[in-house]
Amino acid sequence: MTYKKKLIEVALPLEAINVASAREKSIRHGHPSTLHLWWARRPLAAARAVIFAQMVDDPSAHPDIFKTEEAQEQERHRLFRIIEELVKWENNTNEAVLQQARDEIWQSWRYTCAENAAHPRAEELFNRDKLPAFHDPFAGGGSLPLEAQRLGLESYATDLNPVAVVINKAMIEIPPKFAGRPPVNSEAQRQKAQMDQTWAGAQGLADDVRYYGKWMRDEAERRIGHLYPDVEVTADMARIRPDLKHYLGKRLKVIAWLWARTVKSPNPAFAQVEVPLAATFMLATKPGKEAYVEPLINGDRYSFTVKVGLPTDPETTKNGTKLSRGANFQCVMSGVPISSDYIKAESKAGRMGTRLMAIVTEGERERVYLPPTEEMEAVAREAKPMWKPDLAISGTSQYLGVKPYGMEQFSQLFTDRQIVALTTFSDLVHEVRDQVLSDAKSLGTIPDDSRPLHEGGTGPAAYADAVSVYLAFGVDRSADFWCSLCIWANQPKNELVTHVFGRQALPMTWDFGEVNVFSDSGGNFLKNLEYVAKSILMSGSLPGTAAQADAHTQAVSAGKVVSTDPPYYDNVPYADLSDFFYVWMRRSLKPTFPDLFATLAVPKAEELVAFSYRHAGKAGAEAFFLDGMTQAMHRLAEQTHPAFPVTIYYAFKQTESDGESGTTNTGWDTFLDAVIRAGFETTGTWPMRTERQGRMRQNSSNALASSIILVCRPRAAEAPTATRREFVAALKVELPAALAHLQHGNIAPVDLAQAAIGPGMAVYTRYARVLDAEGKPLSVRQALVLINQTLDEALAEQEGDFDADSRWALTWFEQNGFAEGDYGVAEQLSKSKNTAVAGLVEGGILVSKAGKVRLLKPAELLATWDPTTDTRLSVWEMVHHLIRVLEAGGEGAAAVLVAKLGSRAETARELCYLLYTLCERKKRANEAMAYNGLVQSWPEITRLAGETPRAATSGTYDMFDQE
Ligand SMILES: C[S@@+](CC[C@H](N)C(=O)[O-])C[C@H]1O[C@@H](n2cnc3c(N)ncnc32)[C@H](O)[C@@H]1O
Repeated sequence: MTYKKKLIEVALPLEAINVASAREKSIRHGHPSTLHLWWARRPLAAARAVIFAQMVDDPSAHPDIFKTEEAQEQERHRLFRIIEELVKWENNTNEAVLQQARDEIWQSWRYTCAENAAHPRAEELFNRDKLPAFHDPFAGGGSLPLEAQRLGLESYATDLNPVAVVINKAMIEIPPKFAGRPPVNSEAQRQKAQMDQTWAGAQGLADDVRYYGKWMRDEAERRIGHLYPDVEVTADMARIRPDLKHYLGKRLKVIAWLWARTVKSPNPAFAQVEVPLAATFMLATKPGKEAYVEPLINGDRYSFTVKVGLPTDPETTKNGTKLSRGANFQCVMSGVPISSDYIKAESKAGRMGTRLMAIVTEGERERVYLPPTEEMEAVAREAKPMWKPDLAISGTSQYLGVKPYGMEQFSQLFTDRQIVALTTFSDLVHEVRDQVLSDAKSLGTIPDDSRPLHEGGTGPAAYADAVSVYLAFGVDRSADFWCSLCIWANQPKNELVTHVFGRQALPMTWDFGEVNVFSDSGGNFLKNLEYVAKSILMSGSLPGTAAQADAHTQAVSAGKVVSTDPPYYDNVPYADLSDFFYVWMRRSLKPTFPDLFATLAVPKAEELVAFSYRHAGKAGAEAFFLDGMTQAMHRLAEQTHPAFPVTIYYAFKQTESDGESGTTNTGWDTFLDAVIRAGFETTGTWPMRTERQGRMRQNSSNALASSIILVCRPRAAEAPTATRREFVAALKVELPAALAHLQHGNIAPVDLAQAAIGPGMAVYTRYARVLDAEGKPLSVRQALVLINQTLDEALAEQEGDFDADSRWALTWFEQNGFAEGDYGVAEQLSKSKNTAVAGLVEGGILVSKAGKVRLLKPAELLATWDPTTDTRLSVWEMVHHLIRVLEAGGEGAAAVLVAKLGSRAETARELCYLLYTLCERKKRANEAMAYNGLVQSWPEITRLAGETPRAATSGTYDMFDQE
């Protein structure tokens, strides 16, 4: 068959996608990721843009409609505008924007169907009234299947990991099944008006989750509330703390109990004393509201008190009993060091304990820090769990940092009171299920098919299962906060108990906060559940299916559009980490999904990650990963729908970049190798910066891509073999055009080299093999080197497009940067470039003094410069004045200058690519950032320039220029 090139095989508005993706990371409420934690999720913005661009035709695929390059470019920009709107967070549920995108997808689909009407499997593959379904075989947290669903596709998500499977069920499978139904809870039934309102999407389901969640919370309080008593502010407390007088006699609700782990002192004089391992004694650091713990030594005993105000020795208080990084502490009684080996030995011998350091309570619009009391310590010890998650923690201590400290079972990560709370709540999931079932039946409006959810039911039984899934998520979210690995954050804006998985690891912690599960503050059950309820509302309404499948062997992709994000080598130990949730999920949901939770732990052996401990060493792990990935990719190449490319995310580790070109690294080319060996050719590579990196400006300037989207097509069976010479010749023909294309699309200079790999690899992978002079196949790594060389040459050729002064400056700059050099050398160079040093000085870009010359830095350039009266205007001069103005006055000021420059400004943007590449090679990071920044600001600058009335320019311009 013939296929039409898709937009993603030609161009993408990367900057808009990057900005939206980075912004999304700071959105917490209502983001589908808050449904349940998963590691290394892809931003929805990127997922949506990629799926859209892999489904709509590139205008060049319709030369009959878009006859000229310009017409195609114009159409591409129209599609870009759609993507730019589509990726915005606020448009997530904007039906008009989504529908416009769906219409484009349908239009391309209709063309495809018309063209393939004679295809032998046309009926099955090219039904003009039915879009193909979508599949992600490494679905994880479900961003990609969710976005496919939102774009109007029926969506399939598979993953090896049962936790991920349930997340995907909750995201794409369950909500559409019950969309539009009113809630079944008795409260809603009582309020008839409520029942009569329309319940769009998953609103009814979310209402039930909230209602039954509240019932669970109240019931749990009835059962175990006695373990969470309030604290009375006593006269004794108020005597030493005048700030407490106001609360005297009052009982304050506890937010959290703060504990320190303890070991017996290594000092023989205090061998019986369990001394605290506290990483800090500071409780609150907000200026004027500081609070801290102070240990009081009394003979061979110690106690803790809590003080407010600044400590007398802030450094000591800040460090707690910690001596240095890692597990190095000192004995609070004697100052004797406690080594990490000693701590490990003590904890392994079961001699690590806990001691209450402080209690955080809810005051009147403030947190009140109180000293520990015996009663509070005793009540915590009263908790006696009937069941514990005694599952061994698997994995390496690199990620599972608790293991060297004898924490080998998940049960050891929780206090007894936390286990009692979690078991109580997960038991209540079962009880609540029965209640939902009975309420749904008594309501009588849901046809009863008597089938549970896992058998495809949609009646009362399945609905009761569905509600219990989200309630179980509430328990899982709580486990992330009700764990002894959660520290108390004492930052001014963040006085709270943090959650376990701040990163993809289980790191050891020393002092920790134990949340009051019934408080009104962060980490309580209802707050955790609210995140779940809110994110249900983000789900789609088209059918979705989530199932467990091993990507090595899955058969779900057949005839489907595929976009996927496989694990990246050994970056995240998904299966090891997810056991943390599996133990609770299994307890809450085993009857709901008996097959998924059949095993005691998450399956590990088939997981496509490269861990030495699972595969007898490094080499074994690498071989397993490569072979497995090739096999999984092969499954995709064989099955995917023939009209669409497959898109694959590859997490790019910055530390891996290969100095010189920044584009080749071992992980990257072995991954590419697997993809190619699996029978794919690549038709695009798109670098994306999807992570938030501090300041926005930094983020949009020099940060390297955090992932690369690989665009692939199954390679034709009859692909030819080429010689190295033929390969290079093809590169020389095709790369310059591709490069110009990328530049035309305003790709950030920092992304240019990685993006250009796409067209280069497209040439390489078009052939079955490329043979070198000795007849040996050229490796991916060798091909990448040749691609980078050709890219450099193509960029260098662009130099010829610039004026003589700029060409001189480029060569000089390459040698000297903005530093001084010899006049003689400069003069010599000027001859070969057909210019003269005196002219360059007159041109305003160079200073020449005492036999030395140097280029002027942007900040040194004449602030009163006016391009309209400049008689020796060079591109170099334009670039550096633009940088000067941009840095001093922002995009608005640069726009005024661009308006004056008119059409000449465009050449300045082109020079930036060359300058960026040169600075990058020479490791001149600051200058590189400036050139990259100018290109990235270009769309906004030109937009503003378009708005700038020419008549007003000089006045406004001068204003900005008085620096
Ligand atoms: C990078 S994550 C996907 C993240 C996802 N795109 C998101 O945004 O949340 C990779 C996923 O591959 C899954 N996985 C690993 N080995 C697998 C296998 N053999 N078959 C299917 N899935 C596997 C892991 O469980 C993990 O969820």
